[in-house]
Amino acid sequence: MSDASPAAIAARFLPNRPHYYYARIKLATDPIYDGVAGALDGCHAPLLDLGCGIGLFAHMLRRHGIRVPYHGVDNDARKIAAAREAAARSGLDATFETVDLAREAPPAHHGSVSLLDVLQFVPPDTHAGIVGAAIDRLAPEGRLVIRTGLQRETVRLRVTRAVDVFSRWWGWMNAGPQRYPSRAALEGWFEARGLEATFEPLRGRTPFENWLVVATHRGGRA
Ligand SMILES: C[S@@+](CC[C@H](N)C(=O)[O-])C[C@H]1O[C@@H](n2cnc3c(N)ncnc32)[C@H](O)[C@@H]1O
Repeated sequence: MSDASPAAIAARFLPNRPHYYYARIKLATDPIYDGVAGALDGCHAPLLDLGCGIGLFAHMLRRHGIRVPYHGVDNDARKIAAAREAAARSGLDATFETVDLAREAPPAHHGSVSLLDVLQFVPPDTHAGIVGAAIDRLAPEGRLVIRTGLQRETVRLRVTRAVDVFSRWWGWMNAGPQRYPSRAALEGWFEARGLEATFEPLRGRTPFENWLVVATHRGGRA
């Protein structure tokens, strides 16, 4: 795994060309992984990545020098297979598992948890349970990092939704967008469990309505 440039990371998904081009475009245009890696910087807790897709974030974590144990879960078995293949091909120390977060509890874990661009694709009535399960798995020093659009009537949210609909239409996603969580709902779930959280835009130069939410146990952040 010597070359960890974005181009080299994308090439780890070859010969699957759609995954290769997806990774090239994603890494060139979306600041998500750099932003989330920054939010995890200095935290040594293992990471459970809920809705990990093809596992791109695991590769970016290592590029950022973050060596914590990584386990990714997703309900799309083809993406999990692709994640495992790319990891094996490149010697990436990460594990992956097929789990449907709308129906099953995430695996046992004690550490940090990430939930990146996932909530809009699961039924809204499962949001509280998924975020609650993530909080259950948070170590005292762990960080819960969520990247998500927030439910607000903005042009940005309409653009975000349109792209999510398009992703479903061309087959990248196995589900279309339903509802984005509201900031008030997230704050309520955190407050009830004794977490404090920060909310910051994480969209770079994209036209999307994307936020970086970092929640920790009160007094738990290093
Ligand atoms: C936009 S992708 C984000 C992938 C990854 N988190 C990232 O940022 O690179 C959303 C992911 O959520 C996954 N997903 C949707 N519904 C899910 C469910 N019920 N259980 C687990 N994963 C789900 C999809 O399969 C997809 O990989």
